[in-house]
Amino acid sequence: MKVGIIGSGGREHAFCESLKKSKNIEKIYCFPGNAGTSQVGENVEIDLSNFENIKNFTLNKKIDFLIIGPEKPLVDGIVDYLEKHNIKVFGPNKFASQLEGSKIFTKKLCQKFNIPTAKFGIFFNSEDAEKFLRNSNYPIVIKADGLAAGKGVYISETNDQANKAVKEIFDGKFGSAKQLLIEEFLDGEEMSFFIISDGKNYKQFGTAQDHKRVLEGDKGKNTGGMGAYSPSRLENEVLNKKIIDKIIEPTLKGLKEKNSNFKGFLYAGLIIIKGEPFLIEYNVRMGDPECQTLLPKLKTDFGLLINACLKENLKNTNIKWHNDKSLCVVMCSKGYPDKYNNNIELNLNNLILDKNDFIFHAGTKSINGKTYSNGGRVLNIVIRSNDFKSARNKALSLLTNLDWKSGFYRKDIGHKVIDQ
Ligand code: AMP
Ligand code: GLY
Repeated sequence: MKVGIIGSGGREHAFCESLKKSKNIEKIYCFPGNAGTSQVGENVEIDLSNFENIKNFTLNKKIDFLIIGPEKPLVDGIVDYLEKHNIKVFGPNKFASQLEGSKIFTKKLCQKFNIPTAKFGIFFNSEDAEKFLRNSNYPIVIKADGLAAGKGVYISETNDQANKAVKEIFDGKFGSAKQLLIEEFLDGEEMSFFIISDGKNYKQFGTAQDHKRVLEGDKGKNTGGMGAYSPSRLENEVLNKKIIDKIIEPTLKGLKEKNSNFKGFLYAGLIIIKGEPFLIEYNVRMGDPECQTLLPKLKTDFGLLINACLKENLKNTNIKWHNDKSLCVVMCSKGYPDKYNNNIELNLNNLILDKNDFIFHAGTKSINGKTYSNGGRVLNIVIRSNDFKSARNKALSLLTNLDWKSGFYRKDIGHKVIDQ
């Protein structure tokens, strides 16, 4: 079979590597991919917002199915568009993608189905928001409604900070805003919880913990993710059951009541307080870098698994995992998440990988056989091991050998499971 992957990050390179091992996949196309994916498949330079070009290429090359990595094309309705042209796609439709595309859509669903989440209010103008904020407890959380690449969330410690956040959102920092959310600050530990679904049935697809902040000690600005590990230390059967019963099932029921469904990976961003899960956000895709920690642990043939979903046959497919731990350290361009330089050469020849060591490219490109940086997050080093500490030590020693002078990375990924 021929498969196409939409996206160009570490998540998509991890998809590629898993598909390479798959029995029935003969050719992989990546739209537009990176230097890593070009070693496994064929990169196709294409504008991801041009659905028509993607459709034409897919039909011309007789690609059997597509997997969508990032949220933007999903929220913009790529699945509905391609399915109308009889192309098989693994990812949720436009209606279901509102779970990530509109925080207010998700909050209303939570309200209707009693899904545990932070208490919240929706505000349509700054006067009402400021009036509410005068009598609020701090810290408080202020969120823009739509997609904001993880940047539309403010955790405000004071009334002044909160008013500034409201002003920035209504002034259009994240696109024109008719409304915003103000919500209670939840003080607990975060956890990423995944399911895979074929639209009719679903199965759990592991847990992970990512590190969103740029600096060690989880300080500084938010990023796309500086590292992750799997499983989350919070995972256990009792908590899993609560997450399924109180959050996942009612969400899927809510979509069904609206004559929709969910096909693809659903990622619940949770905060756990005293063993109780609260939904912070939904993502309608795999997490990045969580995906890079999960897929190397998957024993089941990834291509067969996605195919089973496309045939609505997930129910009869067993998902098997390696029992060890997995940890990912992300190497970034100096300056990320602010300004940084691209087009700096990387010499990957010094990296000697053992069987359970993986490199997933993110912001890289290949020119005449050489690898250059091409983004803020550049490489993911992932190690599977019996314990998190040896996994991290190995990842850090590989990065020391790589010695890329234009990069930086956090040395404390997994500190909660290693250092405390
Ligand atoms: P989101 O984009 O909604 O996932 O928010 C980004 C990050 O902000 C989350 O990963 C949390 O660390 C934090 N956050 C969001 N909402 C809350 C909340 N209600 N209480 C505490 N932290 C939050
Ligand atoms: N690692 C966070 C995300 O993928 O949204």
